[in-house]
Amino acid sequence: MHPAGVGAAQTAQLFWWMAAGAAVLWLLVVGMAVYATFVNPERHSRRFAMGIVTIGGIVVPVVVLAGLLVYSLRLMPALMAPGDGLVITVSGERWWWRVRYEAPGRAPVISANEIRLPAGQRVEFRLLSPDVIHSFWIPSLGGKIDMIPGRENRLVLHPERVGDFRGVCAEYCGTAHALMAFSVKVMAPAAFDEWLAQQAAPARPPAGELAQRGQAKFLQQGCGACHRIAGTRATGVIGPDLTHLGSRATLGAGTLPMSRDNLRRWIAHTGAVKPGVLMPSYGMLDEATLTAIATYLAELQ
Ligand code: CUA
Repeated sequence: MHPAGVGAAQTAQLFWWMAAGAAVLWLLVVGMAVYATFVNPERHSRRFAMGIVTIGGIVVPVVVLAGLLVYSLRLMPALMAPGDGLVITVSGERWWWRVRYEAPGRAPVISANEIRLPAGQRVEFRLLSPDVIHSFWIPSLGGKIDMIPGRENRLVLHPERVGDFRGVCAEYCGTAHALMAFSVKVMAPAAFDEWLAQQAAPARPPAGELAQRGQAKFLQQGCGACHRIAGTRATGVIGPDLTHLGSRATLGAGTLPMSRDNLRRWIAHTGAVKPGVLMPSYGMLDEATLTAIATYLAELQ
């Protein structure tokens, strides 16, 4: 109801026309029921009754539905026009989002559970899934579309307003379906370019002693078998890329706000925080190790 993109604005407009039309028809039907019950309750002629059925049951629905069909078909070409160059491939995983940015003339950027977009540009999404069906939906920006194993669906979104929005999975996909969200940040184009360049860089080396110990423990515990942190020997691709984890708004795909304390809680109690998650809980790590790893990850800006 508060669109921030061209597709969402058109959908909202279509909704208001349909809601207004439905309200008028509802008043008409209730008015006729009141008339026939209280105002003029005696029998009507067969001819009169047939006229009501023909007009109210055939003519009005055909005219109204044909009008709405023409109106909605007219909106479609704009929603399917090609993008302006930036392509974002999003893969629905169990239960998080794998994200890859490809901008003309730039190195690809790999991220997860967050999507940033430049305001005023048409961005093409390529939507995939390796196993189960998800549905990709950013209500404030535009329509939703399924992510289906074995095929690639396309969607073009055209954000118009800078701001923070929420994306969700709109198709039941398994245990953690309800804990599978992502943050969407629409930025001014110059700020977006700067951000994309920063994301393409490898993780900066840990600064303090605590973060350095955290990195050593992270690698020693085998976290790198599933997670990638560019610039280190962690090169796993099973779980989300963590190269710039600390700069994201949430962790666990929209499950907790990003903070060092929440990272600690997440690592130690993954299954309790997000039932169904495929990452095991590392509750056996001692407090000092958990704090060191959480500090290291939080500082991956
Ligand atoms: Cu993914 Cu529901």
